[in-house]
Amino acid sequence: MQVEKVALVTGSSSGIGFETALLLSKSGFHTYASMRNLEKSKNITEIVNTENLPLRVIQLDVNDDISVKNAINKIIAENGRIDVLINNAGYGLFSPIEDITLDQVKEQFETNFFGVVRLVKEVLPVMRKQRNGIIVNVSSGAGRVAIPVSSAYVATKFALEELSESMRYELKEFGINTIIIEPGVIRTNFVENMKTAGTRSRSESPYADLIGMTLKGFGGLMDNSSPPKLVAEAILNAITSKEPEIRYVVGDDAKSIMKVRKSTSDKEFENWMYESVLQEKGFVRTNTVEVG
Ligand SMILES: NC(=O)c1ccc[n+]([C@@H]2O[C@H](COP(=O)([O-])OP(=O)(O)OC[C@H]3O[C@@H](n4cnc5c(N)ncnc54)[C@H](OP(=O)(O)O)[C@@H]3O)[C@@H](O)[C@H]2O)c1
Repeated sequence: MQVEKVALVTGSSSGIGFETALLLSKSGFHTYASMRNLEKSKNITEIVNTENLPLRVIQLDVNDDISVKNAINKIIAENGRIDVLINNAGYGLFSPIEDITLDQVKEQFETNFFGVVRLVKEVLPVMRKQRNGIIVNVSSGAGRVAIPVSSAYVATKFALEELSESMRYELKEFGINTIIIEPGVIRTNFVENMKTAGTRSRSESPYADLIGMTLKGFGGLMDNSSPPKLVAEAILNAITSKEPEIRYVVGDDAKSIMKVRKSTSDKEFENWMYESVLQEKGFVRTNTVEVG
């Protein structure tokens, strides 16, 4: 008899995590939709009840050792296994580096990077014994291409990319795969949930113009953003594929930037990014000094 695969998704209260948890359960995975605040479970629970889906909501705060341990222990107690972990929980810190506090940078890493490490360390002993498992890390286009006023966020995603690549070598012999997902701009609660500078208000900042322009630039990108379901479909495709790719870029915006990144030197890319993306989309002024 075919055993139903067990999947855990972090950050399922909204956006990409919400859509991914639903899609996995609709596709036959016994899915745990985890969230740090169970009061946000109403929407997903309603859909699950109406459609009779194999999905359970579970409390999990990726910043909290005990919460992570409890969630994994519960899943193992109920199923004896865990086949797929989707590390999705995360948020953006939007500020020039000079205006954020060191604690804010640490908090950003605590969730976007150490949160993943915490989950991975907890599931690996189980997956290693099973001799199979898939870990999906939701990175970002900003995990390979930097953008302004987001340096701490970008740093967490670059770190996540290389953690994932290194893990792949270590886990191969145990039948465990690690897959990276790189969404472009996706219509979720990401912008509403973004944190901003802790040291001074925007109007007091010498970067006020840049912040304003970058915000406007993001607004423009949002108009052409992709729905979170597109990311959920890419994740499903990755975890059900016989020979998955290492990375999945999701969204036309991210795909076109990655294409240029692959075919240019660092300097060429930076100049292209500056002129054809940041200036073009209004993130920075057109008459600023030349880069480099
Ligand atoms: N939207 C984009 O354009 C975009 C692009 C590239 C990559 N991404 C990445 O996609 C992932 C999902 O973001 P989203 O766009 O779906 O945004 P979202 O709608 O804001 O969802 C973020 C999710 O993460 C959860 N979360 C935050 N901190 C957490 C913690 N300590 N423990 C557990 N859950 C936590 C949030 O829970 P609460 O509801 O409790 O806050 C929420 O469920 C993030 O890793 C983000 O970096 C997003």
